[in-house]
Amino acid sequence: METVWLNGKFLPAAEATVPVLDRGFIFGDGVYEVVPVFGSHILRFEEHLRRLGQSLAAIYMQSPHSDTEWGAIIDGLLERNPCGRDRSVYLHVTRGVAPREHVIRAPLTPTVFGMCTPIPERNYDTGLSVITHADIRWQYCDIKAISLLPGVLLRERARRADGSTEAVLLRDGVVTEGAASNVFVVSAGAVRTPAKSNHLLPGVTRDLVVELLRGADMSCSEGPISEAELRTADEIWITSSTMGIAPVTRLDGKPVGDGRPGRIWQTADRVYQEYKLKVSANTAPGPGLNRSAR
Ligand code: PDD
Repeated sequence: METVWLNGKFLPAAEATVPVLDRGFIFGDGVYEVVPVFGSHILRFEEHLRRLGQSLAAIYMQSPHSDTEWGAIIDGLLERNPCGRDRSVYLHVTRGVAPREHVIRAPLTPTVFGMCTPIPERNYDTGLSVITHADIRWQYCDIKAISLLPGVLLRERARRADGSTEAVLLRDGVVTEGAASNVFVVSAGAVRTPAKSNHLLPGVTRDLVVELLRGADMSCSEGPISEAELRTADEIWITSSTMGIAPVTRLDGKPVGDGRPGRIWQTADRVYQEYKLKVSANTAPGPGLNRSAR
């Protein structure tokens, strides 16, 4: 049975319970991280923990654990859940249990939860179908908040529209991101992704892709992508820790480019897969993983 981490202990998922007055349950008052693990290598460990720290600080919380402690929690979850080669570790921190009152009365003891799930093998041979949608979310999308109802509804809209996987979001005529991914477009050979702002999550995969493209002498610029640019793009990709770089081949039911995963996507994905292989080959299995291998 799946083993999870809850407030200092590893225990079977079925035995892990949280009080109903937890502010995570009542208000969605908390933040989370999804950390991908390939083989035994935790990809971009420091970057994920840094973003967790930023999300916590943005909601007036301190990290309940040091990086070393987080590392031990992740290692413990991986050891206890041998559920496949590639896995993701979900870390979730809420403000804790308190009488239901909007205002925050410090100090509270945060609730800390962690679990490990397999990352399924992806087949991007035909690419993904996505819809466009108005970005109906709030103004703090750079916080990885657990209150995900807008994201849930957007993905459901995509599914109900035409079985699409993702909704690419438009705010004031420009692309922000996907409901649970970042967006890249390719036009006339140039790769572009929206610049970081409060309207999108600073994706760890996004940053890695930008870095890898530049390292491979492929241009990648960060800046506004208009709706017109999105609709006429030769290629569209979406990225996340669990999807990697996914080619989009249908946008609102119409083909993107020639309707097949693009040539530049193929190169970007190859560079990304090679990078994952390289870092996981440099990592010794077991506790105390070589997390900072680049
Ligand atoms: N989501 N934007 C949003 C809104 C996201 O929820 C995610 C990831 C991303 C991509 O970020 P990263 O590359 O760091 O995974 C962008 C995760 C995977 C989730 O909620 O399951």
